[in-house]
Amino acid sequence: MSYMLPDFCAEIHQILMAGNDSAGREKVRAKMEKLLANEKFIAQFCGPEKKPGVYTLNEDPTTGAVVLSHVMGEGHASPPHDHGVSWAIYGQATDHTVMTDWARVDDGSDDQNIEIRETRKYRLNAGQVGLFDVGQIHSIEYPDNARFVRVTGVDLNGIDRKAYNLKHKTVKTIRAESAA
Ligand SMILES: [Fe+2]
Repeated sequence: MSYMLPDFCAEIHQILMAGNDSAGREKVRAKMEKLLANEKFIAQFCGPEKKPGVYTLNEDPTTGAVVLSHVMGEGHASPPHDHGVSWAIYGQATDHTVMTDWARVDDGSDDQNIEIRETRKYRLNAGQVGLFDVGQIHSIEYPDNARFVRVTGVDLNGIDRKAYNLKHKTVKTIRAESAA
């Protein structure tokens, strides 16, 4: 039997109901490695004929976790950002992504004059899965046609997040879509 999306969603539901904490998220990360090892899953959701876009594969109404596939077209380097109160798990489906972790090292008093420093840089190759826990500042860089699967703790469109500008040394809050 091959391990497919419904198996993954059912298992991560159980894991997150039992404990939506760092230990639980690490278990979800390991389950995603199992999912990405299944060529049928990759072919169905991240295959070469898939049109570029972001697809919602599942939303768990109880835990709030969202599973997305990111079928990228052109390569891109994101600015450093966080996901507010949400954690995120990135699983590389095809090609690779370079992940960078950052830490804000100023005293946090002035969002117009910030300082952030790179703390870790690593490459996720196909089949590998990384975890960004709550509040972790990170940036990603991927080549053309990279594909990845992501689980976020909640729907990111519904929460405030932060985006950091390295050139101008500023940070701005990206407001939740539902916010007034
Ligand atoms: Fe992110």
